[in-house]
Amino acid sequence: MSTADTHPSLRVVIEDTVDQATRMVADLFKTIICDAVAQRNACFLALAGGTTPRLLYQRLAGEVPTQPLPWESVEVFFGDERDVPQDDVDSNFRMAQRTLLDHVPVPPDQIHPMPADAADLAAAAEGYEQAIREVVPADDGTPRFDIVLLGMGGDGHTASLFPDTPALQERQKLVAGQFVPVLGRSRMTFTYPLINAARNIILLVTGPDKAESVATLLHGDADARSRIPAAGVRPTDGIVYLILDREAARLIEHTE
Ligand code: 6PG
Repeated sequence: MSTADTHPSLRVVIEDTVDQATRMVADLFKTIICDAVAQRNACFLALAGGTTPRLLYQRLAGEVPTQPLPWESVEVFFGDERDVPQDDVDSNFRMAQRTLLDHVPVPPDQIHPMPADAADLAAAAEGYEQAIREVVPADDGTPRFDIVLLGMGGDGHTASLFPDTPALQERQKLVAGQFVPVLGRSRMTFTYPLINAARNIILLVTGPDKAESVATLLHGDADARSRIPAAGVRPTDGIVYLILDREAARLIEHTE
């Protein structure tokens, strides 16, 4: 994404603080979840990992809303996962479970952890894609999530789409497993076709270490942006929200 080539569906929001950015995303979640359930009797959600979403999940879990969210109608998947067991301290599932899913009434059979520690990663990715296809309705052959929540690393990776990794080129599979050299570990991840089929993609990016990649994402030339996996997030028929705090936006603020 860049100003010149910004996708028409891009919404950039800059909040002063991490807390305000998180609150903004929590409000988006509430609106989208309620609308999806009202219109289609279900909401299909893909959560992100890492550290940024923790505050968001805690906020959503701690909400004492005047009108409780219809969590019993929400199906929860994960946009990516590390190659660790579900109870490992590095597990994205464990983080989401402890900060959110243990505190809201999503039925257990509607929570779908990603089996990224499977011995046969390719087969496990295929199985997870199948599970998504069985649960998440597709408009044009690709299951459409109501929300895909993403973070972004300082190198511009998103989900587990890291620079110079094969999954960036994947256009058939919706879920891929891959070894990530920079981590020395394997990951499982949504691929662009699945991410970009979503109705709403929410990129929550905060902190000074993301500022360079944010500036490249929005204002870099085509070559620079080609090295930022988050630049491949371009919804085919949806909206992408880039929610930033001032720190992450410090290199773009003067031009926005
Ligand atoms: C993961 C995430 C990853 C994350 C970015 C940002 O498994 O680590 O899914 O894509 O969103 O690495 O991580 P932070 O939120 O910790 O900065």
